[in-house]
Amino acid sequence: MLQAIISPSVLASDFGQLTAECHRMIKGGAQWLHMDVMDGHFVPNITMGAPILSCVSKGVPGIFMDVHMMVSNPERWVDDIADAGGALYCFHIEAACMSLPSNALCYLHPSSDDTPSPTPLPSIHTIHKRNMKAGVAISPDTPSTAITDEIAAVADMLLVMTVYPGRGGQKFLDRCVPKVAELRARFPEKDIEVDGGLSPKTVHVCAEAGSNVIVAGTAIFGAEDPQPSFSSLRML
Ligand code: DX5
Ligand code: ZN
Repeated sequence: MLQAIISPSVLASDFGQLTAECHRMIKGGAQWLHMDVMDGHFVPNITMGAPILSCVSKGVPGIFMDVHMMVSNPERWVDDIADAGGALYCFHIEAACMSLPSNALCYLHPSSDDTPSPTPLPSIHTIHKRNMKAGVAISPDTPSTAITDEIAAVADMLLVMTVYPGRGGQKFLDRCVPKVAELRARFPEKDIEVDGGLSPKTVHVCAEAGSNVIVAGTAIFGAEDPQPSFSSLRML
């Protein structure tokens, strides 16, 4: 039986009180912390990188950092994130595979030293070599079939985005939910995470479709007392 996990997205926290905010989440019941790394290239925004993750590792010892890499060259940051204490390194298949179209909000402009390989398998291997778990994310316009049996055999987690990557506080895209069901039917034992626009109102359809890892930013950090949100989100 897969464990149901809530992974609060730290992007929605008050960065001026970062460690205290993380402790507030753990007290509320968070098992993981979701760290959204954006490079201003794969997506238009820039958020945080390894130095911030290091602060969280030091301030919240032993926390499982679920690092969502919205970056153009996933392999480039593996060492930095591992050194900063990342536990799970989840990258976008659209960044790793040139054969997939980037979506409207994902600007993919690889330069000559930045050429992704046609398959994400080498990136997964590089992540495992640094003792992190490897996750593979798909954006709203990427079909679930982009996750081949070969990829799922080595990836530790699959992430189905329920908003376009790039910023918090967006509206949940329910058209992404069938992809969760498709992946769950093919991979009954795999952790499947959903991310974007999750709240007590939208979590149920994702849970019914088979996701067991729920990312929530605005819904959890926005609440003065996160406990009720945790309880509702945990009803999987
Ligand atoms: C979007 C990020 C999400 C986002 C979630 O690019 O990957 O993790 O911060 O935030 P909410 O829950 O507010 O949609
Ligand atoms: Zn995320």
